[in-house]
This record gives sequence, C-alpha cells and structure tokens, in this order.
Amino acid sequence: MAKEKSVWFCTSCGNESPKWLGRCPACGEWNTMVEQTVATGKPSKQPAPRGHKPQQLREIGSAQEHRISLHNGEIDRLLGGGLVEGSLVLVGGEPGIGKSTLSLQIPLGCPDLKTLYVSGEESPRQVKMRAERLGGDLSNCFILSETQMEVILEEARALQPGLMIVDSVQTMFSQNIDSSAGSVSQIKEVASQLLYFAKSTGIPVLLIGHITKDGYIAGPKVLEHIVDVVLQFEGDDKGPYRILRSIKNRFGSTAELAVFEMTGKGLREVTNPSEMLMPMHDESLSGTAIAATLDGVRPFLFEVQALVSTAAYGTPQRSATGFDVRRLNMLLAVLEKRAGFKLNAKDVFLNMAGGLRITDPACDLAVVSAVLSSHFDFAIPHHVCFAGEVGLSGEIRPVNQADRRVTEAARLGFTKIYISSYASVPKTEGIQIVKVADIPALVKQLFHG
Ligand code: TYD
Ligand code: MG
Repeated sequence: MAKEKSVWFCTSCGNESPKWLGRCPACGEWNTMVEQTVATGKPSKQPAPRGHKPQQLREIGSAQEHRISLHNGEIDRLLGGGLVEGSLVLVGGEPGIGKSTLSLQIPLGCPDLKTLYVSGEESPRQVKMRAERLGGDLSNCFILSETQMEVILEEARALQPGLMIVDSVQTMFSQNIDSSAGSVSQIKEVASQLLYFAKSTGIPVLLIGHITKDGYIAGPKVLEHIVDVVLQFEGDDKGPYRILRSIKNRFGSTAELAVFEMTGKGLREVTNPSEMLMPMHDESLSGTAIAATLDGVRPFLFEVQALVSTAAYGTPQRSATGFDVRRLNMLLAVLEKRAGFKLNAKDVFLNMAGGLRITDPACDLAVVSAVLSSHFDFAIPHHVCFAGEVGLSGEIRPVNQADRRVTEAARLGFTKIYISSYASVPKTEGIQIVKVADIPALVKQLFHG
C-alpha cells in the first residue's frame, strides 16, 4: 500500500511544493496553491518516444503539416486552416456553455472522419439522444463511456480513429496516480498521456476542460502549457451567442475569434459577427456607441452601452462587463481632468454587447462617446461609429489597421466614422471620415457639431 502525503500544487503553473505558500515561487501568482494528497513512491511511468535522432535543420522537409478539415468554417479558421495531425487541442469553458455540444457536432458533420468520442460524463444513450437532436451522420462516430485513461488509450489504439474527443479532462483518471479524478496531478498526467498518444499515433485529440467564472478551478491553467492549441468559450450562457476564442495556437495565429449561436439544433456558425453585436433597437438611444474593432484579421462592429447616473450612495460605483474596469476608471479620469466633466459623483456602468470581452484599445473612443452620450442624455445617430485609442493627456491616438475598420464600417452601411487626427486612412466611398485630435474636439464634433 503506497503511503499518502499532502503536497501543494499551483493551479496557475503546476509547480509543486511540500508546504502551503501564499505566492507561488515559480510563476509569482498569489493565492494559487491548492492541497492535494498523493501516494508516495509510485512515480508515473511515461515511455520515452523512441526513434528520434538529432536532425540538421536544413535537412528537415518544409512541407506544411497535414491538416484535417472539420467541415466547420469557423473552427477550421480558428485552428489556422484545419486540425493538425497529432495535435492536442483543449476546448475550455464554463459548465453549460456548449463544449459537449460543439465537440459532438464536429464528428456528426464529418462523416468521412472516423471519430472516437469518449465521454466520462454521459452514458452512450445520453450521447445518442443528443446526437439525434443535433442531426447529422451517425455512421462513423464511435462512443466510449469510460474514465480510465489506460483503458481509453488501449481502445483508441485498437480502433485507430481519425480523431479522438475526450469529454472531459476533469472526469478522467490514470492508474499511475493515486489522487482522485480532477486533481491537479491527475489532470497533468491525463493530459501528458494524451499528448504522448497524439504525437506517437498522429491522431489529433480534442480535450474538453471545465473552467469556472474566475478561471480558477485546478487544471486548465496547468493544461495550457501542455497542449498545442487552446480554444476558449466565452459569453453569457443565458443568451444565445457564444464566442470561441483561440488563446494559444502552435500552428496558427491567436486573437482569432468565432461566434456561434446556440439553437435548438446545436451551435450555428455566425459568419458575420456584426449581425449579433449591433443594436437591437431601431431608433437611436442615448448611452450607446458603436466601436469598430478587430479580432485577429477580421474587423467587426459592436455596440458599447453606458449608463451614467447620480450616485445614490457616497462612493460612486463603477462597473464594467466585458471591459477592464481599470481602463474604464482611467478613461473617466481623462474625461474629468482633460475635458472638465464632473463624473466623480456619478455611477458609471459599462457593458459590451453580446457578452463580448474586449481588450482592443481602439474601443476607447466608443467607450468615451457612450459615457458622454449617457451623461448628456444625447443620442449618437445610428449610422456613426468609432475607432481610436484615448491617451492619458486626452489625445486620440491612431489604431492599427484603421483602413480595414473603415472599410468594414462602410460595408455595413455606416456613413460616419470618428478616428484619430494622426491616423492616415485613404478616402473611402460611402463613409465620411471625421478626424479628432483630442476629447474636447470629439465633444465639439459629436454633440455641438
Ligand atoms: P453542453 O454542450 O452540455 O455544455 P458543456 O458541455 O459546456 O457543459 O451545452 C449545454 C447547454 O446547451 C444546455 O443548457 C442545453 C443547450 N443546448 C441547446 O440549447 N441546444 C442543443 O441542441 C443542445 C445539444 C444543447
Ligand atoms: Mg459537457
């Protein structure tokens, strides 16, 4: 009987420590150590891949990796042009957001691809019921309800599928480790076994992982370092739209994003994201402004909503959904200090439409405009949009690929776009480009112009 002992793991980087620490010495994160019991004297055995000799770089063929199309334009694009053979892809997200739905829809849409769907959460009958609801071709999809890694890999080696899906990493366990399924050491072991399996057989593996709202539960952060690609689901699970973002990709670009709509028959691709992110109302309302943003290579437009009201209590509230609240505070400070707006006794609420999480600084101008529009209770006309970063001295700074944002805005029927005076954008047909140098100039043009 192996002896048990307690060790502490960092949920962010997987670092192991014999005692609790407030701050992980390896990655410097605070409050990430979790306790776990492990058996001593039983190290996990990983066979070393054989047959690899050092090769000279110039002798290595430069042929592209072979990619498998998943017959889903949005996912293929996110992966950088299809699934690379032998790659391990993590699909993360909160429970209920649609990971199982998406991962079952993939094999159903690819009848020419033999797929093994391993479920540790649902029985084959449950998977079948879901598959029938989703519709598609059931003939080439094999279901295995199992949670022990060694059994799963043996079955997979015997079946030789073209794709393996494992739902979810938290329910799987390996015999090599004594701690329970879902613990950091199990998750690391399961992921490294799958990685070895994918690399040695060339069979790509799609691995599902649950993440809680704060991204904290043991696992996925550690997993990110092991896998080749991380696709993360975002969005509000009450609303119909889901955003899948590529946050790590060894075979393509990150910062790409795909939008899906959850329907009664599974997830539908939304090829034109502006469609969902644009206003639902026909008349112009105060407190809203449209931002022209960019994800990876694709420009799209979405609505920023702000509400400015007199603070009911002494300390005004600042809350932002989908936007960094520190950046909102910075923008409000700029409005106060550089343009003289008294916002320090006001509550300010900010929301990005569609459950989107925005990090593009080009959205600053739309945020500022939405806040001012609510403050003045003055609606910004419908056909107007914004693309500019706001600096600390209140200046409007140019943004990358401004010309593509302008072209997309014109294509969607916008007739006016506000950008920085310092940006150089060629004249575009159908849209008036208004250049503003700073916040006072913006206010003058927008509300008094
Ligand atoms: P699911 O894929 O089970 O989420 P996860 O695996 O990430 O936990 O999706 C769960 C939600 O999706 C559930 O609330 C029901 C809904 N759903 C639909 O709206 N339409 C469908 O066709 C399916 C299969 C699920
Ligand atoms: Mg699930």
